[in-house]
Amino acid sequence: MRRHVAGNVSWVGYIDWELERFHGDDYSIMNGSSQNAYLVEEEKTVLIDTVWTPHRFDFVENLKQEIDLSKIDFIVANHGECDHSGSLTALMEEIPDTPIYCTENAVKSIEGQYGKRGWNFRTVKTGDSIEIGNGKKLIFVEMRMLHWPDSMATFLTGDDILFSNDAFGQHYSVEELFNDKADQCVLEKEALKYFVNIINPFAPVLKKKLVELAGLNLPIKIIAPSHGAIWRDNPGQIVEKYTAWADAYQEDQVTIAYDTMWEGTAKIAHKIAEEIARQSPNTVVKVFNISKSDKNEVMTDVFKSKALVVGSPTVGNSYLSSVAGWLEFLKQLKFKNKKAAAFGCYGWSGESVKLLQGKLAEAGFEVIDENVRSLWNPDEEDFAQIPALVSSLLGIDPNAEAADEQPAAETGKMSKWQCGPCGYIYDPAVGDPDSGIAPGTAFEDLPDDWSCPICGVSKDMFNKLD
Ligand code: FEO
Repeated sequence: MRRHVAGNVSWVGYIDWELERFHGDDYSIMNGSSQNAYLVEEEKTVLIDTVWTPHRFDFVENLKQEIDLSKIDFIVANHGECDHSGSLTALMEEIPDTPIYCTENAVKSIEGQYGKRGWNFRTVKTGDSIEIGNGKKLIFVEMRMLHWPDSMATFLTGDDILFSNDAFGQHYSVEELFNDKADQCVLEKEALKYFVNIINPFAPVLKKKLVELAGLNLPIKIIAPSHGAIWRDNPGQIVEKYTAWADAYQEDQVTIAYDTMWEGTAKIAHKIAEEIARQSPNTVVKVFNISKSDKNEVMTDVFKSKALVVGSPTVGNSYLSSVAGWLEFLKQLKFKNKKAAAFGCYGWSGESVKLLQGKLAEAGFEVIDENVRSLWNPDEEDFAQIPALVSSLLGIDPNAEAADEQPAAETGKMSKWQCGPCGYIYDPAVGDPDSGIAPGTAFEDLPDDWSCPICGVSKDMFNKLD
């Protein structure tokens, strides 16, 4: 059933309340999801994307209820992954000659998956457009590596809708379609989880793409992604979030993730959590048993953290297999600007801590030397190592009593400043580590030659936020 989006644009996708896993089993779905496809009916009729392969026959039948398929003048395939292209095989049986607009790489991915079927591909690049009548056109914007080499977005003039495909999406079922109708807490949580687990590995590309998008001066009124809620209420909010998240994001949080055999490593994990709370009461601490926790949810907390502490006992001259797989995923996500430490029990050879430190460094973390390596069960001597580990991780004096006052940056006393041209927000609590600006540096104390890390304009183009 079609649902009205704006003007002559309808949603014709699939809301998947029953979905539990995505990308095989690699992504957990907690609140359903959707595959959004759109029908644009101007003088020309255009279908933008389709839905996942298992739903292809329903998709085509539903579309037939809404429109004579022969009236579709063009198809736009923003991305070749099967959750968006998977209904093409069934659809093209009905309308085999209909032109499919997509990137050159999308032809490779679509033909790679479904075979060379002689479909009428028309390849496009950024800035290419097609007239669709009534004074409107579709403008194409390549979104290479966001998140596949074939990805692109399509902008509809007149209604000013950016069909962004995977970018700005969420795995979240919103029956009412729009962000203003969604549960705002779930929406933000799912948008962040999606960003962390799917988009973050490409954050450097995203930073440049956001600048390029701003430079195109598209008057975007609605962002219509291919998963989850459509951003019609203040679509700039998700662009601002992506801008912040792509910039080595962190909050005052530490995540402790471990697995344990006989509870010794678990005891160390909880002692570390207690010590963080003692030394830095305002710091949020999250503790997860890796083998009992959803990895996508844990990674979302790691992303929010300024530091990660990973523990495993030694087993087979290494660490537990649950931790091994988890560390591999951690590396894939390419987090930046975070410290890390390791801990674990052992009975005989005791390699786990050193190996964990190596893996954390490989994953891009700044690994501290301080660790807890406990023979058999942890005792007071082992726990005595924890204050130094925590103080090194947090960069504070281990002997200091819990501070009555936090630094100004942590308490928000220093103002944030926003870049006028691109919307990047300078947060003094975070600083600009990529440019050598340490956390805790007030905007006023930035060097005169400092410039916006996103679009490169100078300090005087920034505006103070309340
Ligand atoms: Fe939603 Fe990359 O597919």
